[in-house]
Amino acid sequence: MNILVTGAAGFIGNAVSLSLLARGHSVLGLDNLNDYYSVELKKARLGRCKEFAEQGLFSFKQLDITNTEDINKFFGENKFDSENKVISEELLKTLPHKTTSSSVPTKFDGIIHLAAQAGVRYSLENPYTYIDTNIKGTLNLLEACRRNSIDNFVYASSSSVYGDNAKIPFSTEDIADFPVSLYAATKRSTELIAHTYSHLFGIKAVGLRFFTVYGEWGRPDMAPMLFAKNILADRPIKIFNNGNMRRDFTYIDDIVNGTIGIFEWNAARKIIENDKNAARTFNIGRGEPVDLLNFVEVLENELGKKAEKEFLPMQAGDVPVTWADTSALEKVIGYKPSVSLAQGVKNFAKWYKSYYA
Ligand SMILES: NC(=O)c1ccc[n+]([C@@H]2O[C@H](COP(=O)([O-])OP(=O)(O)OC[C@H]3O[C@@H](n4cnc5c(N)ncnc54)[C@H](O)[C@@H]3O)[C@@H](O)[C@H]2O)c1
Repeated sequence: MNILVTGAAGFIGNAVSLSLLARGHSVLGLDNLNDYYSVELKKARLGRCKEFAEQGLFSFKQLDITNTEDINKFFGENKFDSENKVISEELLKTLPHKTTSSSVPTKFDGIIHLAAQAGVRYSLENPYTYIDTNIKGTLNLLEACRRNSIDNFVYASSSSVYGDNAKIPFSTEDIADFPVSLYAATKRSTELIAHTYSHLFGIKAVGLRFFTVYGEWGRPDMAPMLFAKNILADRPIKIFNNGNMRRDFTYIDDIVNGTIGIFEWNAARKIIENDKNAARTFNIGRGEPVDLLNFVEVLENELGKKAEKEFLPMQAGDVPVTWADTSALEKVIGYKPSVSLAQGVKNFAKWYKSYYA
């Protein structure tokens, strides 16, 4: 398939792109390469796709998904005729008057939408970025699906939509209407908008609620990277809620396999008119939460250094526990996470030390 991956320079988007390419799909990656964290790291991730780019299987476009005009132009430029030749906007104008831009097939068989303004804490200070990127950006892509007859749309949601859910593990059957951060509120909003677009326009929109993803090429604003950085520099690490935290840490490969599994399942899925199941949401996590201090201990062992810990109260917008019930995902694609915490942290620590050597 020809797949558009948004957020392709990001942690998950890059890993998903590489795995799609390894499975024989073609990928066009899209990202605005913003400086929320190191642009160098984003570019280095893209560099991992070089071999596939040389074979003509991977290409990249720097684009801001919040810019409606640019996004529409981009989809206009990616229309192909039956011989797989690009149909330019000029050529489109010369076609019989009944041929509208949207009646010419686009290059894309589907979209994996992972671009977002991520991070719970940053959303306290930068609320508008979240509304623009996560809500308007997602709407721009759903509109592109609608106008270009793309019906396979898989997008990133988040475990944060569960807020302070008291019932564990978190199930997609649970009500998720009480987010405790603006980040979570925007992710929940995209689920609702995606549902509407599925209902109105038959787009098979599938949201994946990711649970704390970690691994090689990870995100510098997340705990594993912050911890590794400070432990190796002999600086204290911040432990919130005095260590009374449990997280369903999920290794990147398990996230990638689940995401691609769902995308391929969604491609083959037939929906009938007014199908209440056209829009779906799934949890994707390891399903085995670990104490934060336990995670730190495993990381200390792998880095060969003890952490100095600074115990702090709970942060606004944060939740004490996350725990995924992934039975729905198991039912549809046989999903079973396979990488243990010990193995995942080992891989992560090894990469971290060599990348930042
Ligand atoms: N990593 C996790 O633990 C986790 C957990 C839950 C949900 N998610 C979600 O998964 C997705 C991927 O997360 P990630 O960890 O890879 O984050 P990331 O920040 O590494 O990747 C997101 C990418 O999107 C790009 N981007 C941001 N705004 C954009 C815009 N306006 N236009 C184009 N590109 C833009 C960024 O440059 C970045 O490369 C996000 O939607 C995130 O909210 C991640």
